[in-house]
Amino acid sequence: METISSLGLLLQFAYVVAGGLFIYGLKLLGSADTARRGNMLSAVGMLLAIVVALLDQGIVEYQWILIGFVVGAIIGGAVARMVEMTSMPEMVALFNGFGGMASLLVGWAALSTAGGTFTLVTIVLSILIGGLTFTGSLIAYGKLSEKLGSGAVMFKGQQVVNSLIVLGIVASSVMFCIEPGNSQWLYLVIGLSLLFGVMVVIPIGGADMPVVISLLNSYSGLAACAAGFAINNNILIVAGSLVGASGIILTQIMCKAMNRSLSNVLFSGFGSVSTDTSEVEGEIKPISAEDAYYVLEAASNVAIIPGYGMAVAQAQHVVKELCELLEKNGAEVNFGIHPVAGRMPGHMNVLLAEADVPYDQLLEMDEINPRMENVDVAIVIGANDVVNPAARDVESSPIYGMPVINVDHARTVFVLKRSMASGFAGIENPLFYKDNTRMLFGDAKESIGSLVREFT
Ligand code: TAP
Repeated sequence: METISSLGLLLQFAYVVAGGLFIYGLKLLGSADTARRGNMLSAVGMLLAIVVALLDQGIVEYQWILIGFVVGAIIGGAVARMVEMTSMPEMVALFNGFGGMASLLVGWAALSTAGGTFTLVTIVLSILIGGLTFTGSLIAYGKLSEKLGSGAVMFKGQQVVNSLIVLGIVASSVMFCIEPGNSQWLYLVIGLSLLFGVMVVIPIGGADMPVVISLLNSYSGLAACAAGFAINNNILIVAGSLVGASGIILTQIMCKAMNRSLSNVLFSGFGSVSTDTSEVEGEIKPISAEDAYYVLEAASNVAIIPGYGMAVAQAQHVVKELCELLEKNGAEVNFGIHPVAGRMPGHMNVLLAEADVPYDQLLEMDEINPRMENVDVAIVIGANDVVNPAARDVESSPIYGMPVINVDHARTVFVLKRSMASGFAGIENPLFYKDNTRMLFGDAKESIGSLVREFT
């Protein structure tokens, strides 16, 4: 029987501590005021896991590890500093992709020491999932950053091609497990999984990419988990499972908030054709910042509903200024946060936290909607789809059934945007034509700046 040395026991115990730190860190990430601490604790857990892995695995040569560490830290640090908040999903896509590639390489390297069928299956899984995560994430990055066309790419016979690729993957994986010494099967699995990653992501519209990125994040976790089994490393199994599970939960939350199924996101080509046929009645009523000020000055209850346009305009700081001026004027001010406002989970929370807006002023959709009838003025800042009443009232609308913030129930609605252009879903918004809506056209930061100047 194999005996575990006291050093071995200590290392396993350190892995358990690292796993505990990951789990507790994830829990703290669930709320905005504890998220920084959660991030820090998880990072400490990862450092511990790395140190233990370096001691545990009988490393032959530290020189290349050190070089990789320095190069990686420089690139990662520089990119993280430079990235704009609106480009964060692209960066996460790249991270997922490299995570997938790392699992592919670990699986491949594990082949040199592989024993039984179970290990071969885990190797094939880490290569397969890692490979498709890598190319899928690169396509997602290209679409989001608009380096590639952001639309859905669909062609005749796509499902047949995809089915053939899946069949090829299954067949070559089985052959690889039967004949591990014959490297052509391995190369076939690698090639087909890289191709499959491209094929699964091209039919998805660019604006659906945040959901896909969350799904690919989950895949990168599963690939790491499989790699953990392949090299018999417990902490990789734990960390991979946590990433896999949290990624899939986040994917589900996003789909639910858009009232769409995951298969609709993955296979419908949403956004590749406009399905909006609804006619909108009423007329647009623009308002000047000066007139908007008079209404706001008399308001005692104000709701601010931010959306993607606030992120584009980087208007969060001036929004906070306006909020303080309104409060000084005696108004109660709350923010209504829709779960998919913006382009990534928690997008609005992150921006408003950056501007030091207190967390207790941020109300979720279910909290703010019942209060909307008592709101004197709802200020919609660069939001469109998440306040579209067609989602509630027009059965033929492509977003029918998506829960929205009912700003049209407020006494007056100010919509701040630059034009009559549609939002992500590419559809008309009847809100803009309602009797109680006034359009304050212009860049959100400039429009709010004008309101602030009227107050001061
Ligand atoms: P959108 O519906 O995309 O509308 C954003 C609006 O902001 C646009 O109509 C645009 O109009 C305006 N805008 C852009 N730049 C502006 C600027 N500088 N100043 C003022 N306005 C500006 O945004 P939303 O209401 O936040 O909804 C988010 C959408 O993204 C939803 O459909 C959601 O399903 C989708 N989505 C979200 C996520 C996550 S996780 N958040 C993930 C995937 C998809 P103008 O061009 O006229 O200014």
